[in-house]
Parts: sequence; C-alpha cells; structure tokens
Amino acid sequence: MCGIAGYVGPRDAVSVVFDQLKRLEYRGYDSAGIATLQGEQIEVLKRAGKLTNLDALLKERPISENHIAIAHSRWATHGGPTDENAHPHFDEFEQVAIIHNGIIENYQELRDELAHRGHRFHSQTDTEVAAHVIGAEYSQGVPLEEAVRRACLKLRGAYALVVISRTEKGKIVCARNASPLVLGFGEHENLLASDIPALLPYTREVAVMEENTLAVLTEEGIQVMDMLGKPVPIEIQHIEWDVEKAERGGYEHFMIKEIYEQPEVMRQCLAGRVDEGGEIRFESIFSEHVWNEIDRVNVIACGTAYNAGLMGKHLFEKLLRLPTDVYHSSEFRYGDPVLSPRSLAVFVSQSGETADSLAALRLCKDRRIRTLGIVNVIGSSIARECDRTIFTQAGPEISVASTKAYTAQVMVLTLLALYIAQVQETPGVRTRQWVNSLVGLSELAEDCLKLDSQCQEIAAAFDGAPLTFFLGRGADASVALEAALKMKEVAYMPTQESPAGEMKHGPLALVEPGVVSVFGATDPGLADKVVSNMQEVKARGGTLVTVGTEQTRAVQSVSDHYLEIPHTPYPFLNALLSAIPMQLLAYHVAKRRGCEIDMPRNLAKSVTVE
Ligand code: G6P
Repeated sequence: MCGIAGYVGPRDAVSVVFDQLKRLEYRGYDSAGIATLQGEQIEVLKRAGKLTNLDALLKERPISENHIAIAHSRWATHGGPTDENAHPHFDEFEQVAIIHNGIIENYQELRDELAHRGHRFHSQTDTEVAAHVIGAEYSQGVPLEEAVRRACLKLRGAYALVVISRTEKGKIVCARNASPLVLGFGEHENLLASDIPALLPYTREVAVMEENTLAVLTEEGIQVMDMLGKPVPIEIQHIEWDVEKAERGGYEHFMIKEIYEQPEVMRQCLAGRVDEGGEIRFESIFSEHVWNEIDRVNVIACGTAYNAGLMGKHLFEKLLRLPTDVYHSSEFRYGDPVLSPRSLAVFVSQSGETADSLAALRLCKDRRIRTLGIVNVIGSSIARECDRTIFTQAGPEISVASTKAYTAQVMVLTLLALYIAQVQETPGVRTRQWVNSLVGLSELAEDCLKLDSQCQEIAAAFDGAPLTFFLGRGADASVALEAALKMKEVAYMPTQESPAGEMKHGPLALVEPGVVSVFGATDPGLADKVVSNMQEVKARGGTLVTVGTEQTRAVQSVSDHYLEIPHTPYPFLNALLSAIPMQLLAYHVAKRRGCEIDMPRNLAKSVTVE
C-alpha cells in the first residue's frame, strides 16, 4: 500500500512527482525515491525516512530539468525501511528502473533463478527481482511495454508496477494486477498515481486501470492493453471531489474506507503465505522443533489488538490444545505474571509502538521468554525487538478506530494456529480445508459489505438508546467485545459487553425498553442457547439486533432486526465475518449521532505513553 507517482510532459517532472508524493503522505510510508532521466542514464535518488530526507538529497544532487519521472513512497513489506530497500530499483544493467506496490509472491524462486544466471541484487526487496525480470526481457531487444508484459506473465502476486527505460526516453509503462493504479489525462502531459489525490492538482480527467492491464504513457497520450497485448478501451471519468475527499478514496470517512478494504486485506494477509497445495509458510518464523517445545501461549496486547488476541485463544486451545492466556499489556507488565520458560509471548499490535505492549515485550525478553510479534507497521519498535515478527500486511490504517487491522490480526493468528498444526501434524486438524476456507473468505467479506444499507437503516433503532449490549457465545462473545469497543469509540455510546450466558448473573438488570442488544449468533452449535438468552432480553422489553447465518436463522424470529452473513464450515470464521456488519453498525450509529468518526474525542491512534 505504498504511494506511486509518474509524470511525462513539458513541466519539470521531478518537481511534479515530488509534489504528487507529498499528496500521498497521509497514507503513511517509511522511505521514498525518484527515478528520472539524466542524459543517457537513469538517475535514482532515494532515502529512508520522510520526504524531507529525499528533498535534502535532491538539493545535494540537483537534477537538470527533464520531462519524465516516476516516484514512490514505500511502506515496507519485504525488507526493512532502508535506503537500499527504498524504490526505485534497477535491473542488472541499469537499463530500466521500476517502482512497485504489492507483493510478488514467487520472488524468491525468481531471485534464485536469476542469481544462478549471475544477477547481483542490492536489496532484499521483491521489487528488485521484478526489475531484473523486466530487464532480462528488455535485453532481448523488444519495446519496453513488451518486456513488461512478458515479465508480468512470470510474476505471481498482487502488484502495480511502473517502469522507465534509459533508451525509450519519452515513455512510462505501468501494469496493474490487483494493486490500484490510476491514470491522469492532461494537455500534452500525462500522469499516473496509486491514488486520485495525487492527480487532482494536474488533471481531473482520470481512469482507474482495470485488473491485468498495461498502460503506455507518453506526452501525446495513453494506450492501455491487456496482458495479451490487445488494446483495451479507456473509460475516463471526471472527478468533482475536493482533495480531502479524494484522500479518502471518495468515501466520507477513513473508517468506512478501511471497512471496505477488508476483503482486499484478507487477500493480502494470505499473499505469499499459502501455496497452491494449501501449505502455509511464513518468511521468518521459529524453526520447526521450537513449536514442539512450546507449552503455553501468552498473547499480550491493547485495545482492538487484545480483542484479536482473544480470537486467537479460541483457535490455539480448540485446534492445538495449547493453553493460551490473553493479557492487557498494562496489566501484564505490572502483574508479575508466572511465565513458563517454554512459553511463547505473542505481541499483537497495529502500530508496533504502543508503550505498554513494548514494555511488556522488554519484560519478556529480560526473562528470556520467546517472543513473536504480529504487527502491521514494518520497522516499528515491537517488530524490531521481537525474536520473530509476522506482518499483518493490512496497509496503513488511518481511522483511530481500528477495523481492517483487527481482521488482519485475526487472519494472521488463524494462519499461525494452522501453521503450528501443520508442523506438529496435529491429529484431526485438516489444515488444507481450513486454508481453502481462508482463501474463500475475502469473497464472503464482500457479501458482508452488501449489508451496509441494511446496517444504515438499523442504526435508527439506536436513536435515544441509553445503553447497548453486545452479546454472544464462543467466538461470537469475543467479537462482541470488539463490536462494543467500536460503538464506544466512534459513537460514544455506553455499552455493556458480555458472554450471553452471563446475562442473568447481573447485566440483565440493566435491560429495559429502549436498551438495544446486539447478538452475534453465527455458531450453529450454540444457536439454541443464544435464542434462550435473546428471549430473556426480549421479555424485559429490550430491542434485539442479531447477526446470524443461514444455519442459525432460528434467531431471526426472536429478533427485531436481523442481518444475515454468509456461512463457512467453521463457526470461528463466521464470527470473524460478523465483525464487518458490527463495524458498519457502529459507523452508521456514529454518523447519526454526529460524532467525529475518524478522530474520536480523547483517543489516539498510537498510544506511545503509559
Ligand atoms: C489505541 C488505538 C486502538 C488500538 C490500541 C492498540 O488505543 O486507538 O485502535 O487498538 O491503541 O494499538 P496497537 O497499535 O498496539 O494495535
């Protein structure tokens, strides 16, 4: 989810692409770079850190004015945020320079093959491998677009890439496969970017590139073709949005944009980790014998990440019979926890900078406990300090209330549990069937998003509610905690969250007409029990909103409002999907209440103080 920019035309190209990068800064990044032509050579300037570092470099090594440039702000995925790993990257003979978003899944195979043929690599990135593949095709004497097309047929994964060459000087070639790329049409100048806001100061005529297409940009125009080289018609749209709205991809808030990104995030989470035969592999993980030594897991996290940890506990215990505790980091660090030397401490964190989680991690390291991070931000403190880290690959999350990071954290915890089962050959766990369901989950998440307008209508049921309950059993009870947290954070709605079976031990006393109870009822094995709990609430005059599946439809007749999500063979995954309508409910209730959705009062995205 990095930023991409490109320009060809009469203006000073480097200034244009630098300005474009600035307009993409809100997405978050950890290094940046530019490639342009200088005489017969491609000049690449890149620096780790913020754009000010790149700016300083541009001042140190001024570039004579020229009319073609590409630029990139990188959010690290393969390899840390260093100068070497920053984009653009060259091929073996510095004939082409490329920038890239997304993940090339088969980069290791390709790298090994090229290294065998004598190619030397200067970074740890998958992008440099793609540059070498393109360069190798280009050496055959074909036009740049043909070299890129041929290379794309060899690359597996989700990516967008942009290439310039030192010989075809007026041409930018770009290709899109899953990662977004937008073309901008000007008068004798043309542009491209990963997001519309980076185009708006120059043109309002844009076209979003279709999947599996390639474009050639020159001053005179833009041609688009498919991967067979056949021309594809271009649909230009005129953008009326202001820049702020454009940053949100046309959505009203980052929260809703990020909710909608979840199917893609689910795909990204699996990218490069699941092979065609359904085997799971992680890039950096403990060796196999370590998993047989581990006798207990402690998941340590805050906020949403803690709630994701609770979901992990279900799987570690159910599938692996591995005792698992989930701690709030702030409690863990001061709680003098009993830690088995054979335990594994798992730190879940979107930012990788949360002060309490970092302190808890250091405590575990002092006690020589094995540590594993599940982190979104590469290069963050938790990612660096854990013995091993798995990245959630969710892309930058901007809304303070976390949505897509939660989904990604639960996906990674699920993959991890399945990976351990695969390594240990845990009897009764059919990892391949699970993996199939995980692969199919993003499509079901798309279906969950179709409940948006129904959630918007149901949000009216919360008008004037003094309190909202979030209830469920099993994994639904863990999702209820996260759903309640969303409702508190963005809608400032008092909530009470509890396993449904606990209601009659106290919380039921709070139910009266006007109180809304949201039930997650996605586990067919527990549906009857949930119906009894729903009836207890209904008898006291409460309003019932339920999320169920085709297999738990019995809950519908007891409910005032019913949302049906698709079901999977695994109740755990049904529960994960149910988080999506719950997030949508919180969003629409917040909107009705006129709350500041992306930046709720009193809260911060990254809590780096105790
Ligand atoms: C803050 C954020 C939450 C987040 C929590 C933990 O409270 O507002 O959305 O869940 O910190 O953050 P982390 O970055 O460690 O996941």
